[in-house]
Amino acid sequence: MKCVDDFRLRLGRHELVPIVIGGMGVDISTAELALEAARLGGIGHISDAMVPTVSDRRFKTRYVKDKLQQYKYNVANSDKRLVQFNLHQLAEATRMHVGRTMEAKRGPGLVFINCMEKLTMNAARETLRVRLRSALDAGIDGITLSAGLHLNSFALMADHPRFRDAKLGIIVSSVRALQLFLRKNARLGRLPDYVIVEGPLAGGHLGFGLDDWMKYDLAGIVDEVLAYLRQEQLAIPVIPAGGIFTGTDAVGFLERGAAAVQVATRFTVTHECGLPDHVKQHYFKAREEDIEVNGLSPTGYPMRMLKGSPGIGAGTRPNCEAYGYLLDNDGRCAYIDAYNREVARHPDARKISVKDKTCLCTHMRNFDIWTCGAYAYRLKDTSRQLPDGRWQLLSAKHVFRDYQFSKDNQIALPPPEPAAAN
Ligand SMILES: Cc1cc2nc3c(=O)[nH]c(=O)nc-3n(C[C@H](O)[C@H](O)[C@H](O)COP(=O)(O)O)c2cc1C
Repeated sequence: MKCVDDFRLRLGRHELVPIVIGGMGVDISTAELALEAARLGGIGHISDAMVPTVSDRRFKTRYVKDKLQQYKYNVANSDKRLVQFNLHQLAEATRMHVGRTMEAKRGPGLVFINCMEKLTMNAARETLRVRLRSALDAGIDGITLSAGLHLNSFALMADHPRFRDAKLGIIVSSVRALQLFLRKNARLGRLPDYVIVEGPLAGGHLGFGLDDWMKYDLAGIVDEVLAYLRQEQLAIPVIPAGGIFTGTDAVGFLERGAAAVQVATRFTVTHECGLPDHVKQHYFKAREEDIEVNGLSPTGYPMRMLKGSPGIGAGTRPNCEAYGYLLDNDGRCAYIDAYNREVARHPDARKISVKDKTCLCTHMRNFDIWTCGAYAYRLKDTSRQLPDGRWQLLSAKHVFRDYQFSKDNQIALPPPEPAAAN
């Protein structure tokens, strides 16, 4: 019986352990987590979601305060068109986040950044251009394009000196999305270096409809993508993601023709993951019935999360002057509309609740939307419960190595924590 370590992912001159830790915004897949994957010979992702905010936390900068100060006069105004990001600061924050991470990289693996097109930031094209190019400037090994079709993203980088040397890939949830991407970019003479195929059991946003995601299965989509690439004689590595919970699940995909696997949920309960420790305990405790796919994200994509997420139903006033990452090119966000509707319905209420949408910037920033993969309820099978009822956090190395070496659907438990001294 094989294990993941019997396979290798070839990306150009790199030969890697075929395990990719997926991007988890906002700073849930921290630099520490990504660096550990790289140290162990695989690929880790940082995320470019809300980088100025992340930079404030990581490097004590003041981007959020300064932006809020600048646009304070607009807080009560539901028209957010004027609330623009300073592109110079956005570039600076991205270069710092990426640059410091890359300086700390050790070992044979790679660190990529996950870049979501849906973060339209009130100027979709200009802000995406700055984010992509600044990440390349700062030496990122690769960029994974996610949450969108990214039909123009390659073109935004095409004249960058690193356009052909950095590894560039895209996440798709259908063969059709991949075909569109390849067709649109044919004239640039540069294929993606890898394609991540994300199925309906993944965490974060899903590339399926709210009512039909359960009709799809990852293996079926992966087979279609592999068949299409074979037919077109395109040798692009295919990397499935979503619900790959054990090394044996991973081997199943590698034997089917996948080049690597992308995983995330199992790393949410590691020390290196950016979620606060008390939130990690909620992930451990989750039962199957505690997880739902809903339409709360203002992006319009369905999202999977724990039903107990504090951000669900909160009536937070939109924080676009400080954040504003989901504002479209007209300064609009579906949450602002939902919030204004509730305020109009309850003009005298001191506190309102918005049930159909959530202020995703605020709640992801504060770790109050607990997004997870469909198998988060199995996390309790991956660790030990301590005498006080809490679950023992894992090291990223432990989880990575478990994916790499386990066989026969086994999940290795961590060595018991030494008892606390009296
Ligand atoms: C907490 C969490 C946050 C995530 N955030 C993002 C994100 O910001 N961008 C993205 O493309 N995918 C995101 N994902 C999806 C993962 O990168 C990954 O593809 C997927 O969750 C893999 O499935 P698994 O969690 O079942 O292993 C997130 C997943 C989780 C669990």
